[in-house]
Amino acid sequence: MPDHRQDAKIDDPNLNNDSQMPENPRVLIFDSGVGGLSIFHEIRKLLPTVNILYACDNHQFPYGDKSETALIERVVTVLNMLVNTYTIDLIVLACNSASTIALPALRECLKQPIVGVVPAIKPASQLSSTKVIGLLATEGTVDRQYTKALIEDFAPDCQVFSLGSQRLVEIAELKLRKHAVDLKELKTILDALLKQPQANKLDTIVLGCTHFPLLADELKAVTEKNITWIDSGHAIAQRVDDLLRDRPSKEGNSSPSLDAVFTKACPQHQKIYPYLLDIGFQQIDTLEY
Ligand code: DGL
Repeated sequence: MPDHRQDAKIDDPNLNNDSQMPENPRVLIFDSGVGGLSIFHEIRKLLPTVNILYACDNHQFPYGDKSETALIERVVTVLNMLVNTYTIDLIVLACNSASTIALPALRECLKQPIVGVVPAIKPASQLSSTKVIGLLATEGTVDRQYTKALIEDFAPDCQVFSLGSQRLVEIAELKLRKHAVDLKELKTILDALLKQPQANKLDTIVLGCTHFPLLADELKAVTEKNITWIDSGHAIAQRVDDLLRDRPSKEGNSSPSLDAVFTKACPQHQKIYPYLLDIGFQQIDTLEY
């Protein structure tokens, strides 16, 4: 992996004034934590020259166990702050917990197009041969009316087993901070989904939290059955591509700006910086909020 660290600027006070406004479009990818990086990787694969601001609301992490009212209020507040601070052309709400509840309120108050990330129930129902599928998400996403409607509308012929796990979110956070993943613990969590009565025919699992694709290798390693794993990352990148297609972009700008911003400075969260620098981020900043 290339080492970009010498060039990186961490907590650079000059970042906030956004004076170096990128000429090519800039996409804001937003999540409570590192989960949105699974979406970041897909967008980078498809659109390697797009400028990205990754914003992580680590101050209010996690989102998956917040009340719906508190979550809408928080996401609306922080995204308004971000679009007023930085030049943003498109927003990816890279969080299923937030997208399944806050999109209407956000679309009412923000002028930028917003791509939400919600569980990929429709492709899962199409791919499943047994028509028995699993949904692994946060507690909030599993409970949402929006998710129940997705299942009714797009998987009416499927039996869907759901599991909400906040612990999996924490494990993904720790993995990116270089903690070893306890595979036994992962298996116990997964068994709570796979060993439900009647779930033995389950052949497809939707990763309905953006943190979970970051654990895809480990999840596959502890699953004895042959399972098709589905997440929304590639589809989101394609949607971003469609939305940006008609935007003028400066020829020859092959080295995009990749910035990250956190809503709270704290040593635990700063342990993620080496990973961010390894994957190409150039500036990492904190906007206490
Ligand atoms: N990555 C987020 C999601 O897709 C949020 C996880 C959390 O903060 O609980 O739901």
